[in-house]
Amino acid sequence: MKMEALEVLKNRRAIRKFKAEQVSEEALQAVLEAGTYAPTGAGTQGVQIVAVQSPENVAAVDALNAKVLGKPDAHPYYGAPTIILIFETEACFTHELDGAAVCTNMVNAAYAAGLGSCWIHRCRQMFELEEGKALLRKWGLPETLTGVASIALGYADCEHPQAKPRKEDYVVRV
Ligand SMILES: Cc1cc2nc3c(=O)[nH]c(=O)nc-3n(C[C@H](O)[C@H](O)[C@H](O)COP(=O)(O)O)c2cc1C
Repeated sequence: MKMEALEVLKNRRAIRKFKAEQVSEEALQAVLEAGTYAPTGAGTQGVQIVAVQSPENVAAVDALNAKVLGKPDAHPYYGAPTIILIFETEACFTHELDGAAVCTNMVNAAYAAGLGSCWIHRCRQMFELEEGKALLRKWGLPETLTGVASIALGYADCEHPQAKPRKEDYVVRV
């Protein structure tokens, strides 16, 4: 489970096909903990992480994301057995950026822990809808949470994708 940090950052790729097998508790814990150690503006930790694993809740989030996408029959989480939702709380000082930092830590940690992951969009819109707010209520969370990002998480059921070549002018040194 140990991998050099720079190797992880360079080789992690978005995974879009997952095995049905649930992720190990050890790997999930490693991913979630990595999220909590991400940098946050002024150290406010104004982020709420929600790990969704019950098949009923996973299906509800998948369907909600598909609704926002405008393709009700789609599966935007690609059948992943775990979905991680990232919200900003009212304490969030640097809106969205903290949540993005948390999400980045978690997708990289997922790769280091032997899992596949894909950052999935539309989290804000999902939890602006009444269905999203109803889920928050059901989970005992405040409706004031603002969705930032989400992650499809599981064991990859595909070849590891190759990274596109990096654009030549990505970095300017002055
Ligand atoms: C803000 C953001 C939103 C994304 N939303 C989606 C998404 O909704 N669905 C998806 O399949 N991939 C999504 N991705 C994954 C990107 O498509 C992927 O990171 C990109 O194609 C580069 O591939 P790589 O991650 O393998 O380097 C998102 C990535 C980011 C950073």
